[in-house]
Amino acid sequence: MRKQFLPYCLPLIGEEEIEEVVDSLRSGWVTTGPKVKRFEEEFAQYTGARHAIAVNSCTSALHLSLAALGVGPGDEVVVPTLTFCATANVVIHLGARPVLVDVDAEGLMNPGIAAQAIGPATKAIVPVHFAGQACDLRGLEDVARSHGIALIEDAAHAVGAVYAGKKIGTHGRCTAFSFYATKNMTTGEGGMITTSDDETATLLRRLALHGMSRDAWRRYAESGSWYYEVQEAGYKDNMTDVQASIGLHQLRRLDSFIARRREIAGRYEAAFRRFEELELPVELPERVHVYHLYPVRLKRSALRIGRSEFIEELKRRQIGASVHFIPLHRHPYYQTRFGYCAREFPMAEELYEGYVSLPLYPRMTDGDVDDVIEAVKGIVAEHRRPSIAIPMATHPAAMTAN
Ligand SMILES: Cc1ncc(COP(=O)(O)O)c(C=O)c1O
Repeated sequence: MRKQFLPYCLPLIGEEEIEEVVDSLRSGWVTTGPKVKRFEEEFAQYTGARHAIAVNSCTSALHLSLAALGVGPGDEVVVPTLTFCATANVVIHLGARPVLVDVDAEGLMNPGIAAQAIGPATKAIVPVHFAGQACDLRGLEDVARSHGIALIEDAAHAVGAVYAGKKIGTHGRCTAFSFYATKNMTTGEGGMITTSDDETATLLRRLALHGMSRDAWRRYAESGSWYYEVQEAGYKDNMTDVQASIGLHQLRRLDSFIARRREIAGRYEAAFRRFEELELPVELPERVHVYHLYPVRLKRSALRIGRSEFIEELKRRQIGASVHFIPLHRHPYYQTRFGYCAREFPMAEELYEGYVSLPLYPRMTDGDVDDVIEAVKGIVAEHRRPSIAIPMATHPAAMTAN
């Protein structure tokens, strides 16, 4: 057994990031400045989007994307129930109603189910690229286009993920990314919005900084001017150069992080695929999965313990784990305010009951990965239900054998 606890997640910060932060602190540019601009340019280039707007979180990125669309009181926005609360809360902050929908077996928003939830008040659908795998974007784009509504992607888990040969960030009207500490690349806290629409980009930049026509960089730099106008009551969501210092180097290392994530996912897959007690994530066609999460699904019919006991057993073996997510319809706030109940979301319920997210991050050593595999195998071996022997005469295979 491991001597030291393996945390569920840890970021991988290198000397380059540290030196770049120190350089920003020494330079005097500690708020939005030249490094934010460079980070935005490199991020746009990486994703292939025309514009990238750096903000202080993915929550802000989602909020601004919906605000730029004009979402407000009386409007509805379709959101999957299997997500972090931020995806729905930003809708509520704008005075609109989040309409929760169920997900498919991979935890993704299904175009058919999303279409059924669209009504006359719907302004947008907000699919979540759950665990680092893209939703069926072709299907969702068709749904959005045919109903004349916007597709805003929650790509908090999916920086670097690919759908139909294109990186996430170029499909919907806006795509929101997270650089929170646990994400595939981090700036501590931070986020980015990509869009290929010029007008939306201009509006997003303004809304992210009080509605002002000129940010600090364009006022205080040598080439700047003191004059600005407030064109609407915006927000204070800008990213700082200290955050961008970390982001610039994380972005340059992102492909190596993704390669390591995929390698670890491959090792889990090879180790667990013959276990009838576990269902593993599936990489769908036309996708490159970036494995932000590795949720294994416990088959309750095959195991004598449930999800919570499984996580406790992992902890006893010095392995951290988590659950993604407690579906939104299970939280008292959304139940009380909107009247959601469990039977409306059968797949999310099933996933929630069985899901355990195993640790998977580039900082893990091969030894750490071995320890996770050994712990999972040990728990399954100790808690598997005895298989029920089927008498030969009634075995379906015996009946069809010739
Ligand atoms: C699916 C999803 N959306 C949005 C967010 C919010 O991201 P941030 O913490 O950057 O605001 C998260 C964060 O965990 C998330 O998992």
